[in-house]
Amino acid sequence: MQEVIYGCMGLGGSWSDEPHNAAHVDQAAAAVQAALDAGITLFDHADIYRSGKAEAVFGEVLAATPGLRERIRLQTKCGIRLNERGLKTHYDLSREAILERVDGSLKRLQTDYVDILLLHRPDPLADPAEVASAVGQLMAEGKVRQLGVSNMSAAQIEALQDRLETPVVANQLEMSLLKRAWLESQVLVNHAEHLDYSFPHGTLEYCTRNGITLQAYGSLAKGIYTGAEPESPTSAEAATAELVADLAGEYGTSGEAILLGWLMKHPAGIAPVIGTANPDRIGACRDAERVARAMTRAHWYELWVTARGSNIP
Ligand SMILES: NC(=O)c1ccc[n+]([C@@H]2O[C@H](COP(=O)([O-])OP(=O)(O)OC[C@H]3O[C@@H](n4cnc5c(N)ncnc54)[C@H](OP(=O)(O)O)[C@@H]3O)[C@@H](O)[C@H]2O)c1
Repeated sequence: MQEVIYGCMGLGGSWSDEPHNAAHVDQAAAAVQAALDAGITLFDHADIYRSGKAEAVFGEVLAATPGLRERIRLQTKCGIRLNERGLKTHYDLSREAILERVDGSLKRLQTDYVDILLLHRPDPLADPAEVASAVGQLMAEGKVRQLGVSNMSAAQIEALQDRLETPVVANQLEMSLLKRAWLESQVLVNHAEHLDYSFPHGTLEYCTRNGITLQAYGSLAKGIYTGAEPESPTSAEAATAELVADLAGEYGTSGEAILLGWLMKHPAGIAPVIGTANPDRIGACRDAERVARAMTRAHWYELWVTARGSNIP
């Protein structure tokens, strides 16, 4: 389904173990309300966001708002471990880890189930049969309704799908006007520049052919085209920010809606995940679908070529 998704990575305060406070819960409540006002009903989490505090503050908002759980869909992720056993990051898609991590997320979110569980990153040590067994158990227990993945190639999804009893429904990848490997790899076939991009070829096509929604994280490009003012912007970044502002004026909308509309115009049916915690910026995204429908082919290409800073072949 093509829609804008609210990414909760910015909620819950610091990434340290320091506990969250009432101001963090208020911030989450304001962000959730702004997202609902913008027509957003799917909320993206991960067990690790802000060391569990993104889920915890969201859970407090859910508990304090009767009927909210029924109005929204919740997605969370497991598979990454942070700051454990002397390692900054390692991956863990073992059966025990999946079961334990989902239980932790449900507890923090104060809910009985998540609508979608994403496997956050491929774990080289994972056994697809073991993953399938854990996911099957979680579904049978009613804790998880659907399974998706994140940062996976077509071949990796296919290998997993062979073992699963239910279809993979989503693949979350970094995709934006700034991070364009997904798009460049589609056109730089048989071209020397293809070596500059590492996106696994055929993944977009595999997902669309198999009904797997492509969810785009980083879709607002961290604000560099909409006023975030990076320290030393490249000439392509500065020119793109100017173009985004011009087009926002022309389409009677915000720069954020131009960025998201540009992604959503792609026929793969991309669902952008927005990570701003600022209620005004969340509201600025509400027009994205209209922009996607209205944006001309010429403007779509102009944005792409300006962002890449050189002509396409
Ligand atoms: N699957 C994965 O591996 C993965 C990885 C990363 C993220 N995600 C998901 O995707 C979501 C979105 O990703 P993201 O947060 O990295 O990307 P994003 O939506 O492109 O960027 C959001 C960040 O940019 C800032 N920002 C946006 N516009 C701005 C502006 N005009 N001026 C100043 N700052 C601005 C926001 O700050 P403010 O809050 O102040 O607006 C926020 O810190 C996350 O919340 C998470 O749910 C998934």
